[in-house]
Amino acid sequence: MTGRTTVPGDKSISHRAVMLGALAEGRTVVENFLAGEDCLSTLGCLKALGVEVEGPSGGVVRINGRGLDGLREPEDILDAGNSGTTMRLLLGILAGQPFFSVLTGDGSLRSRPMARVTGPLARMGAWIRGRAGDTRAPLAVRGGGLSRASFTTPVASAQVKSAILLAGLFAPGVTTVTEPAPSRDHTERLLAAFGAEVGREGCQVAVTGRPRLTGQTVRVPGDISSAAFLLVAAAIRPGSDLTLDNVGLNPTRTGVLDVLTAMGANVTIEGRRIECGEPVGSVRIRGGDLAGTVIGGDLVPRLIDEIPVLAVGAACARGTTVIRDAAELKVKESDRIASVTGLLSRLGADVTATDDGMVVRGGTPLTGAVLECSPDHRLAMAAAVAGLVAGGETVIPGEKVVDVSFPGFVDLLDSLRVG
Ligand code: S3P
Repeated sequence: MTGRTTVPGDKSISHRAVMLGALAEGRTVVENFLAGEDCLSTLGCLKALGVEVEGPSGGVVRINGRGLDGLREPEDILDAGNSGTTMRLLLGILAGQPFFSVLTGDGSLRSRPMARVTGPLARMGAWIRGRAGDTRAPLAVRGGGLSRASFTTPVASAQVKSAILLAGLFAPGVTTVTEPAPSRDHTERLLAAFGAEVGREGCQVAVTGRPRLTGQTVRVPGDISSAAFLLVAAAIRPGSDLTLDNVGLNPTRTGVLDVLTAMGANVTIEGRRIECGEPVGSVRIRGGDLAGTVIGGDLVPRLIDEIPVLAVGAACARGTTVIRDAAELKVKESDRIASVTGLLSRLGADVTATDDGMVVRGGTPLTGAVLECSPDHRLAMAAAVAGLVAGGETVIPGEKVVDVSFPGFVDLLDSLRVG
């Protein structure tokens, strides 16, 4: 893996930029917007709520903001597709709307837990009903008349924190969320950029309700979660020298770089700068002799989406890697403890699932296999990275699933592979 390239825009920031653009007054321009299926689901929902959206075209989305009270009742069910971020963050916004809406998604999303969001939003005053005792989509919401609240969340989840902060925009007074460890803070950074009053003290975030949000130009950095697949692909292939430009380096997201360094890869950052409130730079990685490591504690929220591909890296490393404190993996696009250990086992790796992670004993040569990964985009991309070093042929049926977060992944990986 040799060369220099970029990865598509950050998924988390793309969702948030257009949502805040919709609630702001005036025009918002989002550059390098991720035109992956998840973010397109968010745009579709916003349009159904009466927001005027142009694009994405050439990576740019333009939004005519409706202001805090300008959304209108959708005529039909809102479809979040495969996207947990769309559903959970929109629930926060819909909780503040004095109208009726229904949110659904694909089979994977309909099976994911929503009580972590619907519970706090109901406590703020929203009426929410859904399947499985109001804990699974489809979910019906009648919002409005919210009261401020203070929550302590049992898991470090940026989606839960963001849903509460977004609902807090509609409640007079200060709403706070305290997490057990810091999760990604893009919502807080963008809210501040759009003009909201946001404070942080340790693991507590506070937002003041009823702000006046003003449209912004947001330049979205490349997604470090997408970069991770290429970085691990380079790390496990000796002689690699790969540079990825314009990668988001928000410290709540860079756990993957810390782990690859701890495992023995040579990772350096060049051209570090701040763009639209987010740290950005070029990441250069040179492949090394990888060794096993331990991933746990506060590191986990900083790399939760990178665990599937890091597990592939661990299978190619000398020694044992222990991944713990990561029970959240069970409620992602698939049960990623079961799906990742299942995938590695099919390739011949020595791996054991645990209650809150997995143990990977590296060094067993991988053998190609047919790997069913749908509906999990990150599992499919991790499988493709494993396929680069596995003997024989690896087949991933339904590879289109990668379009959820990384359109063009297969061609990009292929073009770098020959280097
Ligand atoms: C995301 C938060 C994380 C992450 C997901 C995107 C976000 O989920 O896994 O891919 O954009 O807020 P949790 O909030 O459930 O940890």
